[in-house]
Amino acid sequence: MKVRHLTDAQFGSIISEIDLENLTTEQSKSIRSLWNERALLIFPEAHLSKQGQDDFALMFGELEFPRIAISNVGKSGFIHEDPDDDVVKVIRGNEGWHHDSTYMPIQALGAVFSADIVPDKGGLTGWADMRAAYEALDIGMQEKVQTLSAYHSYYYSQGRDGYLPNEQNDDGTYNAYGFHDGEACLRPLVKIHPVTKRPNLLIGRHAHNVTEMSSEESEEFMDGLNQFACAESRTYFHQWREGDAVVWDNRRLMHRVTPYDMSKPRRMWHTRIAGNPNTELAENYR
Ligand code: OGA
Ligand code: MN
Repeated sequence: MKVRHLTDAQFGSIISEIDLENLTTEQSKSIRSLWNERALLIFPEAHLSKQGQDDFALMFGELEFPRIAISNVGKSGFIHEDPDDDVVKVIRGNEGWHHDSTYMPIQALGAVFSADIVPDKGGLTGWADMRAAYEALDIGMQEKVQTLSAYHSYYYSQGRDGYLPNEQNDDGTYNAYGFHDGEACLRPLVKIHPVTKRPNLLIGRHAHNVTEMSSEESEEFMDGLNQFACAESRTYFHQWREGDAVVWDNRRLMHRVTPYDMSKPRRMWHTRIAGNPNTELAENYR
């Protein structure tokens, strides 16, 4: 296998000359250790099968859910493009920087993500390095964020952006994935990576109501922090080719999709790797 580190940011490697569905024990070991070190591994034109993608994800941990489509292509080729369509709202929500499943009691460890149908323009996936972001804060700010926690909720992020589903239960809840009905999950703004032991920011669009701040103060503070953290120098945007596959470390990186013309089909496959309850459980669920 051939490994080439991305050079613009402090994370990410491109791995080629490898068969992800027939890995040797040694290759599996190198990939897991590279993943902890580089946080994003890109496998150009890997063309994983459904089972192959889930099996590859299982190398990193149990699954939060097996492969699902993240797509505006519906049944029999119907394209979801109406801004008021619930499928469109989920996709548009992904345009904001986020860690996956921080609104669930156990945040995700990572994801295996692959491209099936790619639009000509837009629809890139970007990642941002929250370890580099933490390290770029001045000491005073590092000390401040170390003392703070924030609630994470999909009600908050989708609500703020105007993307709540049309279909709502009588009690105000939703059945769509991520609308967790328990108490919103409280998480420290600084996460110690369980393997590297290096601190990184844990922030993004789902985080709100920082402890010890009013809602307004918190929103302004988090908007500023998110913007600083995701400065261009700490990001990488991948222009997909059909068959490309990646695995990212959701403990350290945030990600987002760039806008695309929703009348054009895009289909990505997402297998979500479950976090470890010892290290990815919300503070108020321990
Ligand atoms: C996701 C996500 C981004 C993309 O599937 O969790 O944020 O590029 N996707 O589709
Ligand atoms: Mn996501």
